Amino acid sequence: MKEILQELERRREIARLGGGQARIDAQHARGKLTARERIDIFLDEGSFEEFDMFVEHRSTDFGMDKSKIAGDGVVTGWGTVNGRTVFVFAKDFTVFGGSLSEAHAEKITKVQDMALKNRAPIIGIYDAGGARIQEGVAALGGYAEVFQRNVLASGVIPQISIIMGPCAGGDVYSPAMTDFIFMVRDTSYMFVTGPDVVKTVTNETVTSEQLGGASVHTTKSSIADAAYDNDVDTLLQVRRFIDFLPQSNTATVPEIECYQSVTEADNSLDTLIPANANKPYDIKELILKVADEGDFFEIQESFAKNIVCGFGRIEGATVGFVANQPMVLAGVLDSDASRKAARFVRFCDCFNIPIVTFVDVPGFLPGTAQEYGGLIKHGAKLLFAYAEATVPKLTVITRKAFGGAYDVMASKHLRGDLNYAWPTAQIAVMGAKGAVEIIFRKDIADPEKIAAHTKMYEDRFLSPFVAAERGYIDEVIMPHSTRRRLAQGLRMLRNKDLTNPWKKHDNIPL
Ligand code: HXC
Repeated sequence: MKEILQELERRREIARLGGGQARIDAQHARGKLTARERIDIFLDEGSFEEFDMFVEHRSTDFGMDKSKIAGDGVVTGWGTVNGRTVFVFAKDFTVFGGSLSEAHAEKITKVQDMALKNRAPIIGIYDAGGARIQEGVAALGGYAEVFQRNVLASGVIPQISIIMGPCAGGDVYSPAMTDFIFMVRDTSYMFVTGPDVVKTVTNETVTSEQLGGASVHTTKSSIADAAYDNDVDTLLQVRRFIDFLPQSNTATVPEIECYQSVTEADNSLDTLIPANANKPYDIKELILKVADEGDFFEIQESFAKNIVCGFGRIEGATVGFVANQPMVLAGVLDSDASRKAARFVRFCDCFNIPIVTFVDVPGFLPGTAQEYGGLIKHGAKLLFAYAEATVPKLTVITRKAFGGAYDVMASKHLRGDLNYAWPTAQIAVMGAKGAVEIIFRKDIADPEKIAAHTKMYEDRFLSPFVAAERGYIDEVIMPHSTRRRLAQGLRMLRNKDLTNPWKKHDNIPL
């Protein structure tokens, strides 16, 4: 018996070494951790339960029958993050460059199936060279099996991808279909085809970093939701992130005990809006003052900065914050901002996370660049997302809510549950200058008349009261009471019961 047990331990030790000590050392020399080290940091200590440690590939071509390594390039299993179950798979770059074989794919689909059946989040950690080139179509089929499961699980359980090395070819599409992608700066990159193929096909010369590094995907392509400096920081941030998410679309929003009062007035908010309506202020200040203990996890912080999206908590329960940012392009809605916020709103709606929207928006961005780029369709995405969302929707207009952007930003007309405005709100078709130049065009040469018309327009329309008179605004609130008002509203909306008409699925303008 002792020998049998020792044999198991011996086999385990070999499997844990993956591609061997030399390759582990090479991984460390590049500033990267191994798959197992990553899982150990990511999960609660001692909670990892591994599956399929002894799985090997079945290919025989190109001498592969003589080259088998237990685990076949991916470590899979489950564990806990702050006590809650999650499923994980981590590509092991030390084994065939983490490339995906048929058997490797079967290990991933097994945990995907387990995660879906048991309604728990799944996290994939990537560091791999794409399809196992020696396997051909068996590897391609394996990828498609993974993709199919990503789609079936979408909107049912949270799916998160962490890119910690190369992620190329077939490896990019599974992360692309998950809810969030996190990257490591300088050591990770994602692209469909690498620099060599790019050179051959388009004659462009680029480095991996220029083509698909974290800097590209967090600022230009918006593929990644955030990036951090190293493996450890990234894994710890994703642990923090998971605390905001429910286990599935039928689970309740997680609650973390809150020690900060919601009734205390924050008088600093009464002076947040500058006296001059054209002066910017930082909307994140409002978010940080409303969220429990100022804990805010921002999504896509470096992309479309004119809108801010992210998770926080009010009275311990997760909420999604969406806010126009007057500091960037005056908070205007453009194609990028619309796409970014639409996807965020839809995630919140999938997973029962109430949405708090702060509005200060001068309208949609005019110009040929925007129109040629499909602003109509992209703007419609955000409109569609807010309109279809059935989770509690609470809106506070802090200053401008002009034109179509007023409608889009979780207005009463899109089934906003609680629509508040600060006394500084200006709810109108457009700003005073533009409005007067159109409706009083005949007086344009007379500055005195124009000034009088402008004053009249400002007094009548640039306030929250016309909207409040119609009930489009439920209440004009004091800025200092915003956190209390939102907390009370969220409590009242806890049992909100609203469903959309049955359909196979909608046809959001993609
Ligand atoms: C088999 C692979 C492999 C792969 C890497 N390796 N990628 N083995 N299939 N796809 C092996 C290497 O042969 C090497 O083994 C070891 O992993 C480490 O790789 P290196 O090249 O030494 O590492 P590095 O210099 O860091 O380069 C990493 C890399 C590069 C950029 C990922 O290996 C690379 O370009 N790989 C191929 C990428 C690719 O074209 N994949 C196929 C994409 S097509 P040894 O034993 O020599 O150390 C695809 C189609 C699917 O994925 C589409 C589905 C939709």
